[in-house]
Amino acid sequence: MTRTPVTVTVTGAAGQIGYALLFRIASGHLLGEGVPVRLRLLEIPQAVKAAEGTAMELDDCAFPLLSGIDIFDDAGKAFEGANVALLVGARPRTKGMERGDLLEANGGIFKPQGEAINAGAADDIKVLVVGNPANTNALIAQQHAPDVPAERFTAMTRLDHNRALAQLSKKAGVSVSDIRRMTIWGNHSATQYPDIFHAEIAGKNAAETVNDQNWLENDFIPTVAKRGAAIIEARGASSAASAASAAIDHVHTWVNGTADGDWTSMAVVSDGSYGVAEGLISSFPVTAKDGKWEIVQGLEIDDFSRARIDASVAELSEERDAVRKLGLI
Ligand code: NAD
Ligand code: LMR
Repeated sequence: MTRTPVTVTVTGAAGQIGYALLFRIASGHLLGEGVPVRLRLLEIPQAVKAAEGTAMELDDCAFPLLSGIDIFDDAGKAFEGANVALLVGARPRTKGMERGDLLEANGGIFKPQGEAINAGAADDIKVLVVGNPANTNALIAQQHAPDVPAERFTAMTRLDHNRALAQLSKKAGVSVSDIRRMTIWGNHSATQYPDIFHAEIAGKNAAETVNDQNWLENDFIPTVAKRGAAIIEARGASSAASAASAAIDHVHTWVNGTADGDWTSMAVVSDGSYGVAEGLISSFPVTAKDGKWEIVQGLEIDDFSRARIDASVAELSEERDAVRKLGLI
């Protein structure tokens, strides 16, 4: 039986993440084996030609699952009929720049894109915002899409989650696949809190197994939280292939579900769980099933974790206040 292709809109298609992302979407890694995709790419007018070049290369791969590519410089057209939207296009942080500096530069992009999603996307639209500051950009887009259920707007902390898995696996000398229940709380920024108190290594509590508070506080947490800046420092450009890989993981898990007994990290609209102010798009431990996510409930949060979650959520509140002042929401 031939399946109807899923329409995937990708913004910033000519950028470095776009270049790492599109080939994996087209080869079937985003949605799963056997699901055909139709790509709609959005770029600014100056970058349309480069996006056309990438589209030529996509053609040249002869991916059996790729049923078509259209390129636009108009958000209204690019989101028409979209089932999945990956909002990557934004201005990346460069050396010495703080994420707060990006609010104004990028906020303006996400308002019209939210409006376009509201006007033209498919009823089952799922949105992942990658472009920074991702949580607040997702909030801006969501606020301008009043007809789309708020839970369809998410922001990416899966890269932070994967970074945390990698660091913990090295410390414990185990494979990443031996680790479950990692959690990133809060903002995709240096205030994020990677939490191993509920994580498990081969079924045993990770924090107890590692039993090294100095490593946790002075190595693990800052390494994960500041990894984006370390990559910029080393590469002279922000993370690209790892960010694209995390975007694939995020959507794949959302659509196809989390494994039994495990969860993932996604920045989603808060319902007030764990004291995170309602409406903020903050990272939580989530499970996914049948294309829907749910925040994991009932985890005990000790004082150490509470202080760190609160600090990151306070930053999200400040970002929300800042974009309110700028008239972006
Ligand atoms: P890049 O500069 O290489 O590419 C960005 C692309 O977006 C460019 O081609 C640009 O023309 C395009 N663009 C700009 N405004 C646009 C608009 N209004 N509509 C459509 N396209 C537009 O940047 P990159 O390295 O691909 O990174 C993209 C974003 O992802 C940055 O904001 C970066 O900070 C962010 N990022 C997030 C994470 C995360 O974990 N959430 C990780 C890495 C990077
Ligand atoms: C990352 O985490 O690699 C990106 O968000 C880049 C950045 O600005 O930190």
